[in-house]
Amino acid sequence: MPLDIPGATHLHSGKVRDLYEVESGHLLMVASDRISAFDFILSPGIPDKGEILTRMSLWWFDQLADLVPNHVVSTQVPERVRGRALIVEKLDMFPVECVARGYLTGSGLLDYQATGEVCGVPLPRGLVDGSRLPEPIFTPATKAELGEHDENVSFEHITGTVGAETANALRDLTLTIYARAEQIARERGIVLADTKLEFGARPDGTIVLGDEVLTPDSSRFWPADSWQPGRAQPSYDKQFVRNWLISPESGWDRASNTQPPSLPAEIVEKTRERYVQAYQQLTGETF
Ligand SMILES: Nc1ncnc2c1ncn2[C@@H]1O[C@H](COP(=O)(O)OP(=O)(O)OP(=O)(O)O)[C@@H](O)[C@H]1O
Ligand SMILES: [Mg+2]
Repeated sequence: MPLDIPGATHLHSGKVRDLYEVESGHLLMVASDRISAFDFILSPGIPDKGEILTRMSLWWFDQLADLVPNHVVSTQVPERVRGRALIVEKLDMFPVECVARGYLTGSGLLDYQATGEVCGVPLPRGLVDGSRLPEPIFTPATKAELGEHDENVSFEHITGTVGAETANALRDLTLTIYARAEQIARERGIVLADTKLEFGARPDGTIVLGDEVLTPDSSRFWPADSWQPGRAQPSYDKQFVRNWLISPESGWDRASNTQPPSLPAEIVEKTRERYVQAYQQLTGETF
């Protein structure tokens, strides 16, 4: 899976991105065109997805620059990965997936239905899939091993892992960033239901925003004009893919837990258009 990039040593491959160390000691973060749905990496990829998400993440880092330092060093990257990679500071990452939720869905909804709480945060009765929460909440998770789901944990759990001071800082930063991003998205007709951020520390202890930010891979974006609590919301990016996979045409049985079939060209093209549209609607720029 990793590419052969002169001067870069492969460190890690996730479902979608590959990480390398470069000679300066910085990291090269490469976003591929891979797409996942229902926890499977699908085939083929979505042309330009890596570039679109990299641009989107960069745009957001700019929007947030007055709130938090970020890890971006440069967009000057090796030719092979131009446009879909960044040179970033190598941080000591906190082992916490910092999630903010303004709306209830996904694992948050499941926890709420079982306990009335999400990550130890009690919520009012009567909320349904897609409900807007009275106020955004911090719902941290611990990173799972490859192939497992991240596990929602309480704030106290995070305090135990990183200490009270850092835990407070991560929560405050996460909620501040969510508030800013949610407002920006809303002005552009997009509901930012939730988002997952990752932070790390510089050698001097400064907390820095890392990873990718506020992309459809790390966040739920819903078209604001079709938001309707009480059902699953259409997803901005993967709706065509999901609909096709669960339709009779695909011949795939989700319960079988087997690799889904290849996506037809039409689904790939429509999905690409969705990513382009999300990018353009959000940033006001043309891809
Ligand atoms: N500035 C940084 N310094 C060090 N590590 C970083 C930095 N930014 C991001 N990372 C780490 O790089 C990795 C990016 O990997 P990626 O997200 O592709 O895979 P993953 O998180 O292991 O798996 P997946 O996201 O597919 O579940 C993550 O482990 C993330 O914490
Ligand atoms: Mg990741």
